[in-house]
Order: sequence, then structure tokens, then C-alpha cells
Amino acid sequence: MKLLKAVRGTKDIFGEDAAKYNYIVNTAREVFEAYGYSMIKTPIFEETSLFKRGIGEGTDVVSKEMYTFTDRGERSLTLRPEGTAAVVRSYLEHKIYGKEDFTKYYYMGSMFRYERPQAGRQREFNQLGVEALGEASPILDAEVIAMGYKLLEKLGITDLEVNINSIGGNESRTKYRENLINFLTPVKEELCEDCATRYENNPLRVLDCKNPKCKEVIVGAPKITDALNDEEKAHFEEVKRYLDIFGVKYVENSNLVRGLDYYSSTVYEIVTNKLGAQGTVLGGGRYDGLLTQLGNKEIPAFGFAAGIERIMMLLEDYPSNTPEVHIVWMGEEAEAYAFGVADKLRSAGIKTNIEFVKKSMKASMKKADKLGVNYAIIIGDQELAENKVVLKNLAERTQETLSVDEAVAELLK
Ligand code: HAM
Repeated sequence: MKLLKAVRGTKDIFGEDAAKYNYIVNTAREVFEAYGYSMIKTPIFEETSLFKRGIGEGTDVVSKEMYTFTDRGERSLTLRPEGTAAVVRSYLEHKIYGKEDFTKYYYMGSMFRYERPQAGRQREFNQLGVEALGEASPILDAEVIAMGYKLLEKLGITDLEVNINSIGGNESRTKYRENLINFLTPVKEELCEDCATRYENNPLRVLDCKNPKCKEVIVGAPKITDALNDEEKAHFEEVKRYLDIFGVKYVENSNLVRGLDYYSSTVYEIVTNKLGAQGTVLGGGRYDGLLTQLGNKEIPAFGFAAGIERIMMLLEDYPSNTPEVHIVWMGEEAEAYAFGVADKLRSAGIKTNIEFVKKSMKASMKKADKLGVNYAIIIGDQELAENKVVLKNLAERTQETLSVDEAVAELLK
């Protein structure tokens, strides 16, 4: 019989990876809630038209990477390639704008893109992200950028660079697009294959193409920040001023444009040089036009998403998920008492393992060793009679006889 494997581009998360994953999402939840964000969980699949309209038909995500299928009711559905469009769909559907003027959501979960798998790039991957809806102030842009940066810092991830840019509103971008096409037309033969097709319908994408040929071609290209109107320029200046106030160092990168069509004004990415080609850990920006696009509402918004697998690759320190204590019991009589002790330890929040079957002392200690626990609790007839336990520190090779409460106190130290 052929043994089945996980589908190409997908990964099981277990063992140490699961400990990392949990640490990342738990820390993110703490940070996001500290900034007043609340959780939103949207469905894994949506109507295909949501992503086409929201992300844009000309983007790589929509034109090449979506997992689209027809369900038994003949509906065209798509596994979500990202979270923003669905959060906006939900916000509009439930008319949240009528109930509050500023809404802050965070989310975590699987996203799906049919990309070529490589280190840090999967077909099913996990994101954590936030969307703040209803606020146009540049303080929001800076605060959200700072929040993501502080989250990564809290996770102990260093050597990060915050790249920021402003791509302005529709009008400035249309003007800039023309300038850029004029610049690219004489050199279009030198562009890579992807950019040769992109350059007419999505020329801004040529700016952040990773192909060395294209990087050379765009040297000296007009800068989008020069095409911004006064208001857009002032907004961007304010974002930078607040980033300084919030203590976030950043680099201005006029070639940063992002791969999804809904952005306007501020865009940014947090990158590392430790992940090779997939160096973007987190990306986001303002999308003031998306709510008009999807629901005819002029509501400004800003958000970001980070790849959890990429953060996992960078994470060095995280709490282990191995149990702290292994309980070993000897003699039929001790069994019920030992399970009572396990219950007390677990109620106190101590990660506890216990033998299910009677084993020799030697076999039990070997098991404790294999589990990697720091402590063993040993319960025999004598401990049972005295209502005590033996607490053994496996690293220091010391042991003492204690009451259960004393053992709990010792373990919680
Ligand atoms: P994005 O840049 O497409 O933005 O994705 C955000 C992050 O998800 C990336 O920086 C990367 O860490 C991770 N990621 C993307 N694709 C993959 C993949 N195939 N494998 C592993 N990780 C991946 C968005 O998704 C926007 N919705 C972000 C946003 C929220 N903008 C405003 N609000």
C-alpha cells in the first residue's frame, strides 16, 4: 500500500515547530490586544469574485496563484490567499461602520497560494495580521508599523529593516504610471519574462522585481514619491515623524510597491537578510480605496500581515512544550494517589506527565530521561502512607521528600 504524504507546498506543524508556532501566536495575541485589537475569524473560503475585485485581476496572486474550485452547488469559491479582502467583506456585510467609527481586528490562520515551494514559501502557509478600519490619520500608519515591529522585537528577532514608501492615491499613481511606462518603453527588451508582460498592465511591479536584469534596468527610473500631491507628501512626512516618536528606525525605499492592487499612500515591508530570497517577514500598508471598491464606502484603512513560518525560521528562543514533571508510581495502592497528585500539579499549571502502567523504577526513570523533563515525582508505599511525594531534580541529581503542596510550590519557583 502506498503511504500518503502531505501535499506539495504544505507542512505538518508538530513537536518543536508546534512550540514555536504557539509561542508566536500567543505573543501576537498579547501584543495586539494590548493595542486594543480584537480577534476576527473569517471563513477559509470565499466567493472567488471577492479576491478578483479586492486584490485585483492583474496581480500574480489572482492571475496565477489562487486555489479556485466549483462546489456542488456550482458556486465558484477560492481558498483565501490573504486576509484583508475577507475582513473588509465581513466589516461591510455586518455594517460595523454604522456601529463604531474605528474598528481594530487581528487574525491568524492558513492562507493558500499556488506558488513554487521553497524555503519560506509554501502553498498553504500561516499569517498573523491586523486590519484597522475607519481612521485616516498618519498616526495610525505609524502605530501599526510600530506594533508589528515591536511584536517581532518581543519575539527576539533582530536584524530587521523596516522599508517604507508612499505610492499615493489613484490620481498620482496614474500620472506616475505614465512616466514609468515612458521610462521603461525604450528598455523593455531588457526586462525579465514576467516584467515584459507586467510592464504594460502593472508597471509598478517592475520596480520591485527581484531579477538582477530588471534591477539594473530600473536604475534612474522616476520616483513615485516625486509624483505625490502636497497632501500625500504631507501624510508621508507625518508617518515618518511619528515613526521617529515611536522609536522605529526605517529606510525609505522608493521601489517598494507591494504585490496587491488595493494599496494607496503608505506601504511598507519588514525584511531580514537571514531568509535568502524570501526575506519579507511582514508587509502591509494603507488601503483607503478597498472599501469603496467592495462596498461603495469611503472608509480609510491600514493593516499588515506577517508569515508565521518565516517568523518560525527566525525564532531562536521560545518556551519548550516538553512536560516539566514525570510522575512515577510503584505498587497498586499508590496508583489512585499518584493520579490525584497529577491532578493537583496540572491544576497549578505545571506540565505533568504520568506513567499509565506500573513499571520498574529503572524503566520509569529512563522514560523521564527520554521525555526531557527536569523533575520526576516518585510515589511508593511509604509516600502514600505519609501523604508525601519524592521530588527528584534530574539535572542536579538531588531529591527530597515533600508534601504535595510543598512540591507544587517548589516546581512553581
Ligand atoms: P503579503 O505581502 O502578500 O500581504 O503577505 C504578507 C506576508 O505573508 C509576507 O510578508 C510573507 O511573510 C507571508 N507570505 C506570503 N506568501 C507566502 C508564502 N507563499 N509562503 C509563506 N509565507 C508567505 C498580504 O497578504 C496583505 N493581506 C497584508 C495586509 C494586511 N495589507 C494590509 N493589511
